Amino acid sequence: MEQLIIAMAKGRTAEQALTLLKQAGIHFPDFHQDTRKLIFHDETGHFQMVYVKAVDVPTYVEKGAADIGIVGKDNIAETQADVYEVKDLHFGACQFVLAGPADMEIKPNRNLTVASKYTNVTEAYFDQRQIPIETVTLNGSVELAPLICLSDVIVDIVETGTTLKENGLHIIDVIQAISTRMIVNKASFATKSGQIHDVMNKVSGALEVYS
Ligand code: PRP
Repeated sequence: MEQLIIAMAKGRTAEQALTLLKQAGIHFPDFHQDTRKLIFHDETGHFQMVYVKAVDVPTYVEKGAADIGIVGKDNIAETQADVYEVKDLHFGACQFVLAGPADMEIKPNRNLTVASKYTNVTEAYFDQRQIPIETVTLNGSVELAPLICLSDVIVDIVETGTTLKENGLHIIDVIQAISTRMIVNKASFATKSGQIHDVMNKVSGALEVYS
């Protein structure tokens, strides 16, 4: 049996994802959150896990460096990776939103500057509405941009709403619901079909038992 490689997104949802895998019978005993190791092996020798930045998971899977990825819909949408999205794992729930100051009005004929970590999602949203924009790409603390006139509005993720609230920003529109997904490399889905379906079934079983 060939080994399956799982690309796991670092960050907020990793613990839940690893718990789910453990419940599905896939356990990486040498993993802990503070580790600097990047590759882990499961107890059976059937799986390897690479622990990488969430934004890179779709790329690892698209390129076939990993067979399976566990990552948020935000990063799948932003990277537009050519992968199969096979399962919604229903945790890591949040939303992509357009947000700005309370008095902000979006009018098609004004010059609008939008700050975001997610410029592809941002451009797709405004293209669909035929609203021309200028994008400002930031890598974090995006909520700051409208407060210091770097942008008019932002496109970002909202989970609890605390960051928006504490910075006096409001949701103008909800763009898309997000949650953690399982993705699969297209070639692996054909060549390792049995193994991949086995993982999908075990994960589905674990989701049912523990939901
Ligand atoms: C994310 C996101 C928001 C915040 C939303 O940022 O970009 O800033 O979380 O969460 P909330 O609605 O629960 O307040 P992250 O914590 O990843 O840090 P960053 O700003 O450095 O990107």
